[in-house]
Amino acid sequence: MMKKHSKVYVAGHRGLVGSAIVRALKARGFGNLTLRTRDELELLDQKKVADFFKKEKPEYVFLAAAKVGGIMSNKNYPAEFIHENLVVQSNVIENSYVSGIKKLLFLGSSCIYPRLSPQPIKEEYFLSGPLEPTNRAYAIAKIAGIISCQSYNEEYGTNFISAMPTNMYGPNDNFDLKNSHVLPALIRKFHEAKKTGKKALTLWGTGVARREFLHVDDFADAAVFLMEHYNRSEIINVGTGEDISIKALAQLIKKIVGFKGRVVWDGKNPDGMPRKRLDVSKIHALGWRHQIPLEEGVRSTYKWYKQNK
Ligand SMILES: NC(=O)c1ccc[n+]([C@@H]2O[C@H](COP(=O)([O-])OP(=O)(O)OC[C@H]3O[C@@H](n4cnc5c(N)ncnc54)[C@H](OP(=O)(O)O)[C@@H]3O)[C@@H](O)[C@H]2O)c1
Repeated sequence: MMKKHSKVYVAGHRGLVGSAIVRALKARGFGNLTLRTRDELELLDQKKVADFFKKEKPEYVFLAAAKVGGIMSNKNYPAEFIHENLVVQSNVIENSYVSGIKKLLFLGSSCIYPRLSPQPIKEEYFLSGPLEPTNRAYAIAKIAGIISCQSYNEEYGTNFISAMPTNMYGPNDNFDLKNSHVLPALIRKFHEAKKTGKKALTLWGTGVARREFLHVDDFADAAVFLMEHYNRSEIINVGTGEDISIKALAQLIKKIVGFKGRVVWDGKNPDGMPRKRLDVSKIHALGWRHQIPLEEGVRSTYKWYKQNK
């Protein structure tokens, strides 16, 4: 069990997820955190990662460093997505084992599941069919990460667990239109359309795809919960269990931002997987549930965006 003085390394602590995990740990009184920016520790560098683990000897590791992006950057840079994710996770997982840490939490993603998975998506659908082509390289890297954790557990008796979060959003998200996810991209597009007094805003795709969104503070709460209570190799979904069409999400964000113009769907850019809703009965059965409703979460994220961007 993690103690308040346990030494905890959060890899990727400035990102959306890593920063939320740090907030959650601090709020719960975990004070012995080890944090390194990418400039301080390049996780692609095997030797530097090995030296870091040897010297620092963390006891618990949250692996929230990864190359992450929306549908366009996944489509345009598949080589970077597969290479960087494979190398970063292999370096951290191997050195976590070599230095004898107590437990590691690896972050997968709902895109590891087959494109045409029955909905909601149960953990057992993992590796049961072909993947969505737009983010296949990223998904394969994540799949390799899950199998790495399971293989180390099997062979070396480690306690490396893997959580599959749905789409997350919140403070410290990436709002850069070239490579951001749909929710922060919509916040920024509506905000800018309102500021410049646009009459109409054109959005990618058709808006019919459905997605599930989890506030990152809810995810961080689940990550700490799993670190404390979940000790199995099998993957576990983390989400709300509720989904919404991208069209309805756009309407919600339009209302929150206060954009008065029209919304036009270009129908040209890809929608990605038609539906993606996780079955969260496994984590519910363990006693964890999300707390932040979507509207409240989008409101507070928009407030953060206006104050920080
Ligand atoms: N966002 C989502 O909706 C979502 C959904 C499912 C799963 N996930 C998973 O959650 C994890 C975190 O995602 P995120 O959204 O928080 O991403 P993010 O905001 O882009 O943050 C990623 C972090 O990783 C660090 N990083 C990346 N490459 C690195 C390297 N080579 N060396 C050292 N540090 C490196 C970055 O450090 P610097 O800030 O120092 O550059 C950054 O802080 C990922 O595993 C992702 O696959 C995310």
